[in-house]
Amino acid sequence: MIDFEPQDLNHEWVEELLTCVTDEELEDATKHSLVPFKEQVLYEGVPYTATVRDSKGDEYIDCTAQAWTLNVGYVNPDVLYTVAYQMKRLTHVRYGYPTVPRIKLLNKLASMFGERFQKICFNNEGGGFGIEGAMKLAMVYKGPPHTTFITAWRGYHGSSLALLPASAWLPVITRFPGYGIDRYVKAPYPYCYRCPLGLEEESCDLGCLKMMEGTMRHSVNAPIAGVIIEPIQGPGGHVPAPRKYLEGRRELCTRFDIPLIFDESQTGWGRVGAWCASDLYGVYPDMIVFTKAIGGGFPLGVLMTDERFPDFTEAEEHTTFGSNPVMMAAALANIEVIERMGLVERSKKLGEKITARLRELQGAYDIIGDIRCPGLYIGVELVEDRETKKPSFPMASEFIKEGTRNGVIYDLSMPDLFLDGVSGRNVIKIKPPLTITDSEVEKVLEVFEICLKHVSKMKQGG
Ligand SMILES: Cc1ncc(COP(=O)(O)O)c(C=O)c1O
Repeated sequence: MIDFEPQDLNHEWVEELLTCVTDEELEDATKHSLVPFKEQVLYEGVPYTATVRDSKGDEYIDCTAQAWTLNVGYVNPDVLYTVAYQMKRLTHVRYGYPTVPRIKLLNKLASMFGERFQKICFNNEGGGFGIEGAMKLAMVYKGPPHTTFITAWRGYHGSSLALLPASAWLPVITRFPGYGIDRYVKAPYPYCYRCPLGLEEESCDLGCLKMMEGTMRHSVNAPIAGVIIEPIQGPGGHVPAPRKYLEGRRELCTRFDIPLIFDESQTGWGRVGAWCASDLYGVYPDMIVFTKAIGGGFPLGVLMTDERFPDFTEAEEHTTFGSNPVMMAAALANIEVIERMGLVERSKKLGEKITARLRELQGAYDIIGDIRCPGLYIGVELVEDRETKKPSFPMASEFIKEGTRNGVIYDLSMPDLFLDGVSGRNVIKIKPPLTITDSEVEKVLEVFEICLKHVSKMKQGG
């Protein structure tokens, strides 16, 4: 184990490097960056809270957990200690090598869902790579000529060229239609507030499930290799599928022997008030993909399945950094921290508290169309009025700005532009670290009302 002190460098050099940035450096970097930046230079998180400071010293309560990832907060001391400890021994090995954290993480994950998901692989890329891994296994399982995957309207599964067409088509934010467009067919997602079939939830008799069966039978041009779905749609607007719908999908996939793949990139690791949406619903897929919060702040993607599916060869599922022992050590500590801090239960409890207050606000502000949860996976849909349910992107985007001005970072659903030019990007997300404190929750709710008041004036032409 190596000594963890600078040798050729020194403390001052490292401190200067990582703590000081000038406006000029930022300006230059902005010119050099191929991708745009947000306004704040994030600088340091505060442990056991949802707070982050920027380089100017301004503090924000972060209701995004940085892409719904930092469930244990920005800088959890136990995760960091474990990571630093691992870094003293090994930071990188080639994919084929097992390491102590890899062995422990395989066994730990296999123990978490009963006998269900006993076969597991890792990647350092995240959810998209995990989904592609699931697709590869499904294709081997079904064999040629099974090449079609069914995904959902307004779904999102990743930004690789192979996954763009699996996701909602977003010409507003991406110029790429993706490769393999002919491999995907999209079926309506059960978005009950705006039922794609124009039905009422109380009397719909799950028309969308019938539509799904119809899609499987009639919409495809080649045999189906797999069905991919977010059990609670995230980027597409925080839409929980009804339990009976997921049960129905499970039954359909079992009946037709088609692998059901759950994309739990966002819903995993306590976010929904359960370890994952599958646990919450009691409906389990054949393959499940996790990323984001599973790594405790470090990049990790995980695909879990069972023995019915063939193992990969080493070449079929690897990347240079895919066996990174640091991310696996982080994931092990992360699970332990979530368990010991009771964060899954906390997410459930705080989710109930926040949504109860939001429902009170809904009584007072008619721009709140719908409020969706569970746990700290909250989406609030802003509409021009409740009758028409017309989504209000102008109000939603101004809401986010007002939030930031008041020290709370909220975020929006993904840019979803309808053919008539109406933007469906109107869902405000509240998905903070599960370590958010009680007083931070109060502030998030206070600022939420300030933002509502502010954007309501837009409606009144103020
Ligand atoms: C539901 C869902 N699936 C897949 C992905 C892709 O994950 P990654 O960006 O790690 O590839 C995301 C990312 O936001 C996501 O939200």
